[in-house]
Formats: sequence, structure tokens, C-alpha cells
Amino acid sequence: MKKIVINGGRPLKGEVTINGAKNSVVALIPAVILADDIVTLDGVPAISDVDSLIDIMEAMGAKVKRSEDSLEIDPRGLKNMPMPYGKINSLRASYYFYGSLLGRYGEATVGLPGGCDLGPRPIDLHLKAFEAMGARMTMSGNAMHLATGGQPLKGASIYMDTVSVGATINTMLAAVKAKGRTIIENAAREPEIIDVATLLNNMGAHIRGAGTDIITIEGVERLHGTRHQVIPDRIEAGTYIALAAAIGHGIQISNVLYEHLEGFIAKLEEMGVRMTVSEDSVFVEKQESLRAIHIKTSPYPGFATDLQQPITPLLLTAEGHGKIIDTIYEKRVNHVAELAKMAGRIATKGDQIVYEGPNQLQGASVKATDLRAGAALVIAGLMAEGRTEITNVEFILRGYSNIIEKLTSLGADIQLIEE
Ligand code: UD1
Repeated sequence: MKKIVINGGRPLKGEVTINGAKNSVVALIPAVILADDIVTLDGVPAISDVDSLIDIMEAMGAKVKRSEDSLEIDPRGLKNMPMPYGKINSLRASYYFYGSLLGRYGEATVGLPGGCDLGPRPIDLHLKAFEAMGARMTMSGNAMHLATGGQPLKGASIYMDTVSVGATINTMLAAVKAKGRTIIENAAREPEIIDVATLLNNMGAHIRGAGTDIITIEGVERLHGTRHQVIPDRIEAGTYIALAAAIGHGIQISNVLYEHLEGFIAKLEEMGVRMTVSEDSVFVEKQESLRAIHIKTSPYPGFATDLQQPITPLLLTAEGHGKIIDTIYEKRVNHVAELAKMAGRIATKGDQIVYEGPNQLQGASVKATDLRAGAALVIAGLMAEGRTEITNVEFILRGYSNIIEKLTSLGADIQLIEE
């Protein structure tokens, strides 16, 4: 069991560098299964989801070498084996093993994905795509078995009824080596989708349209090795920008692709946050008074659901009333009860979050219920007067690279304690 203890209220300043995107790398690693040779990924974040994926790849026979932020994965010794339990159940992104194993072997037996509890998280669209391409699904215990019955996967036209990051990427993974053409309509447009398509194309795939809502994939026989730089994590960047706007005495956030954060930055500007943007960094300072705003999350390029929780402590410092509506995950509200323990005037009303400010947060004992809720509590703890103790912090370490070191370097009094 790990917990984070924060003595809040310290002025934070300095520079923080953003790592490679979690939501890219969790797809890029399984994508290497499709290659016939070594793939090197640079800019890989030091997060526990990556550790879990490396364990899974090694268990299947891949050789993985890690040095600083690079990962060299040699898939030549891979064997397709059933993976019903273990690390597979610890992360959401293990669903990418369905697409990549199916794409390479025409068969996959993989346990059901885990991950954060954000309310219902179905994978029906992933299955709809695999079935359209000729795979049949059966359940055995906790594992799902997908197989084409010895036939090659075949290209298909797939309309995504809901815009889904995971289903779009998974369909690309399955389709790159399928026979013929696959067309994904109503595809998600997140930058991570472009990143995965870039890796696959550099391995020899033929994917066009990634980043738009129609993606076309012409299947190829084989994919080779390559080297790939992971894009910066826009959610990590947004988290540090929100933190800097709440308590920063001048914080430079580096390795940021500003254009990936436009929906988020526009809302901060509406609050009155002033930011100086340069080529690959953003400089942010706390303002004396901010305005409360309404937030409605939507698929990219809208306001990301993953930034709804990390921005909430900042909202609590603003003047007036506001609400948050999460249209992607209506039940993504677990941070609210914890922030209320820290004297935040915040509550849920139906599926909406309503708040009133400004608030001076007080330290408290709180629990991280999921990854981004955990990030919200870390920010709140840094803003609060007194001591905050956050339990269940394994969630936070799943997605924020070196968070304790980064915050300590900005001047925070924060400790990770293992019990
Ligand atoms: C990814 C991100 C997660 C982010 C989410 C939305 C990863 C590993 N995780 O999750 O951090 O919060 O995108 O930006 O990249 N849906 C269905 N059926 C499906 C799939 C999804 O109905 O088969 C619904 C979901 O319930 C949700 C919406 O579609 O309401 C979007 O979900 P999706 O984009 O698929 O989320 P994930 O890929 O799981």
C-alpha cells in the first residue's frame, strides 16, 4: 500500500518537463506484436502501466530492453499464448492485445481489461469491428477468445456508433495486416490515434486519414522494425498547467504540443488564466482572481474528459458558480466527494458536478479513486492549508511519470510513503 503525504501551501516555481503520452504508449507497445523486427520507442514515460505492458510482452516471449526513456522491443521470439489473468486485468489498455494478436495470429485469448472505474466502459465497438473482419468471439471464464477459424482477417467497412479512442486504435491494429481495405467511419480524432498510425505506417502499414473521422487502411503482408518518438502527454501537460494556474509562482511547462490542448487552454483563458505560449512550452502564473466557468467534455478536439478532474481544484478557487458535464463518462464524479472533504463547495447534482467559489482548501485524509481523480487530489493537497494524506495512490503512479520528483523540484513538500 502506498500513500502520498503533502504539506500544502508552498509556493511552487521552476520548470517541469512533460513525458511521452500514456494513452499513446499503451497502444504502441502492443502494436509491436505486429512487427517482424525490433521496434524502438523513445520518450516512454516511467509509469506503472508501461511496467505492466512490458511484463505481458516478456511473458509472451518478446525481449525488452529499457534505457532511460527508450524501450527496445524485439518481437521475434513472440508466441501467441492465452493471457486470461494477471497484469492483463490491471489496465484498461490491455484491450489492445485483442487487436494486435488478432492482426498477427488470427486468434487471441485475453482476459477482460481493468482500469479506472469511470462508470460503464463497454467494448462492444471493438468487438463489432473484429466481427466485421471475420473474427468470432466466445467467452471462457474471465477471458475472451477471438478467432478467425484459420481464415485471414478481411478488411471491412466499420461505422463506429460512438466516437471511441480504443475501438478506433484496436480496429487499426487488427486491420493493418488484414486482406484488403478497411474503412473506419466516425473514427476518433485524438492525437494518440495519429501517433499509433504513424508508428504503424513507419513499420510499413498503409493507413490514411488518422486524425480525421474517416480512416482507410490497406492491409499489407508484413511489417518491419522502426524507431519512433512518442508524442508528449497532453493530459500530463494539462494537469501541470492547471496546477500552475492554481498555485504557481511562475512555472514553465516544457515539451508541450500546444495545439493538442486548445480546447483546454480556451477554457482556462475564459477563467482569466494568463499563459505565455512558446514553440514547445507554456509559462503559467497564478492570477489573483479567476471567474467560474462551465465545462462540457467531448471527444477531441473538445475539452478532454481526462482533464475534467485535474482542473476541478483550480475551478474551486474561482469566483462564482459553475458546473461540469462529462458527456463521455457521466459517472466520472468520484473526485467530488473527496474534494468536498477538503472544504471545497462542490457536489453532484444528477450527473452534473456543481461548484461555488472561491474556496480555501484545507488538508484532509482522502482517497484516490481513479487515476485523474488522484491527480486532482494531489493538486488540491498542494493548494490546501495543512497536511493532506492521499491513499490508493497506485492509481496515480499508473499514469504520471516521476510525479513526486517533478513536484519536489518545483518546491512542493510531498512524499510517497510505502506501508
Ligand atoms: C480512452 C483513454 C481514456 C479516456 C477515453 C476518452 C486510453 C487507454 N484511455 O479510453 O483515458 O478517458 O479514451 O477520451 O487511451 N464506448 C462504447 N463502446 C465501446 C467503446 C467505448 O460505448 O466499445 C463509449 C464509452 O463508454 C465512452 C465513449 O465511448 O462513453 C468513449 O470511450 P473510449 O474513447 O472508447 O474510451 P477508451 O478508449 O476506453
